[in-house]
Order: sequence, then C-alpha cells, then structure tokens
Amino acid sequence: MMETPQIQPGAEPGAGASRPPMKPIQLFDPASSTYTYVLFDQVSREAVIIDPVDEQIERDLATLREYGLKLVWTVETHAHADHITSAGRLAELAGAKTAAPSGCGIGTAGIQLNDADTLSFGAEQLKALSTPGHTAGSMSFVWRQHVFTGDTLLINGCGRTDFQSGSAEALFRSITQVLFSLPDDTIVWPGHDYQGRTCSSIGQEKAANTRVAGKTQAEFVALMNALELPRPRRIDEAVPANLTSGLRHDADGVLQMQPVPPGGAHQGTYAGDVSPELAWQWVQAGEAVLVDVRTDAEREWVGFVPGALPLAWKQWPGMAMNPDFDALLRAASGSKKVVLLCRSGVRSIAAAKRATELGLEAYNILEGFEGDPDADAHRGQKGGWRFRGLPWRQN
Ligand SMILES: [Fe+2]
Repeated sequence: MMETPQIQPGAEPGAGASRPPMKPIQLFDPASSTYTYVLFDQVSREAVIIDPVDEQIERDLATLREYGLKLVWTVETHAHADHITSAGRLAELAGAKTAAPSGCGIGTAGIQLNDADTLSFGAEQLKALSTPGHTAGSMSFVWRQHVFTGDTLLINGCGRTDFQSGSAEALFRSITQVLFSLPDDTIVWPGHDYQGRTCSSIGQEKAANTRVAGKTQAEFVALMNALELPRPRRIDEAVPANLTSGLRHDADGVLQMQPVPPGGAHQGTYAGDVSPELAWQWVQAGEAVLVDVRTDAEREWVGFVPGALPLAWKQWPGMAMNPDFDALLRAASGSKKVVLLCRSGVRSIAAAKRATELGLEAYNILEGFEGDPDADAHRGQKGGWRFRGLPWRQN
C-alpha cells in the first residue's frame, strides 16, 4: 500500500476563511474508478471541478452546496473513453464555464487550453501542462503543490496508449520530462485508481513507478505495446459524447450519435436525421459538408455557423425556390455527406430530400439552428444548434 504523503489538512466544510485551501476535495466514481476533484479559493469560494462524471452530477452539485462554493470552471484532462463528462450540464446548472485541452477536439468547451495557460478561481490559479501520450491532447494541471495527472500518470502506473492517437513515446516524455521535473514533494492526484489508493507524490513515482522508474524509453515503449488491454466497454459511446462536453438530449436522455432513418411519410426519402452534435462531429472530422439552407436575412439576424455553406432553400422576395440550389449543392458536396441545417428542421428535410434526388448522401439536422418555440413562442430555449452549445457567430 502506498504511503499517503504528508499534506496539511484544509478545505473541510465550514472551515474558517483564514485558513488557506491546501488540499483538493477528492470524489470517486466506483463504476469507472474515476477520481473527480474540486478545488476552491477559500475566500471567494470560487471553485474548479476536474473530470466530472455524468452519473455523479447530483453528488457533485451537493458537494458544491455543502461547501458553499460557486463553480466557475469545469476542466477535462482529456476526452475520456470510460465515462461521460457532466461538464456541459454543470455549465447549464451551475453557471460554470467549460475548459478543455485544445488538442482533444472538444469543440463545445468555451476555453481551449494550451500549454502553460492558467485558469483563475478567486485568487487561485490552475496551470495547464501539455502531457500528450495517453491521448494526443491529454493535459495535467498544477495547483499549488498539487498536480492532477488524469490518465498520464497513475499511482504506480500510467494510462494506456493504444487508442485516441495515443503514443507510448510521447507518454514517456510527458512523464519523465514534464511531470518528473515538478518538485519531488508535489502531490500526484491521478484520474483513476483501481486499488483504493488516493494520491502519491512525484518523488514516490520517480523512485518506484514500475512502468517508468529506471526504464529507458525503448523499454517503456516495448512494455506498453505488449499490454494487449481489452477495448474499453464504453468507448464508442463515451468519446463522441465527451467531444460535446457530455451534452445529450433525446427523449431517453441518451445523446444520439448515430443517424436515424426517417420514418412515416419521409421513409426512404433521405439518408437520416442526425443530432446537431453528430453533424458537428462529422464536419470536424471532414466527413460531411454543413449546408445552411436558411435565408440570408435569417443568418444575418439570428446567427450562423462558422464554416457552413450558406445556400438558401427558398429566398426572399416571395420565398421563391432558389434556382441555383441544385448546382451549388452538387459542387459543394464533392464526395462527402451533406448535413442540412435550417431554423427548426422543416426546410432542411425538404432540402435533404432534394439532395437525395440529386444522388447525394443527405441528412437532416434535428432541431435546426434555433429549435422549436417554447410556450412563450421564444425559440432557442428547447434545443437547436445554439442551445446545444455548438459553435456559432453573429456577424
Ligand atoms: Fe482516459
């Protein structure tokens, strides 16, 4: 059993404002063996949460209430393959801003972190360290004498490197050159532990981590390549969901990351309906062209998606059919799928049917840019591209 490093106690509920916060609150999700951390500034009560787990959102909100904290940041160490983040929902429910490593493709995060960037909470600061290897975009975070290592460095272990653009060479460099250059008494708070251990120290891991201590890079790479680990059970569900901060929204509360064939009268008339998140994922991966079929006036007044092709289905004056629609759509799609966006998903279905007649693989984006109107006839409160936190701009 690893010896727990000596750290000053602090940050208990109701602790006096005079005592500085010296220790993070460590929370554990048994289903995925994931550690979530809450750090806070003891005077302002502003807090950061690192790697929150979707199924634990009620626990995390209760923890914030118990300690009297205002959550200002959610932070991810990487796009996880074993659990879904609650970052997007915490942003909605607690008013936090979302931050994620810029190399992880988490397009919904409000702040894309680069190496050495800092996030402030009250008078405290959390500093990002680029530590690629477990995934290409993985980061660790330093706060005071603590480092939160995600899956880069575990207690007497490290994260795997066999998916999500992982690299054993990069991981070796991140551990031995970036993390091991922190002071030896830095407390290591890992992203997981499967044996009930809570924390370690840089000095301890340098001396005794069986994956890296005393190993050359070549020995480490050989060891990592020989692991032959099973594929994570939730990877196909978790990684796409985590690329959108864990936001999920269909009737069952499950993020729809597969196209659904159109039913009823629309059956067979176009390739399928897709969630805004799935459409955006395809666009980011270069698999699909995003076509905005609203009018010029709507885009100008309501907002637009950067990089989308503006191609009105109907156009003022008189909302006449756009005579150039077919030719411009064909030219834009090349051999890619087309995903069609309108205000709330009516014109985009008509346009998807037309695109299908033209021989294209065409999908309707559910909910459109603004979503359906609510009881007060306001749009944008019940779904849609903007409501889902996907990128958009005005002018
Ligand atoms: Fe991971």
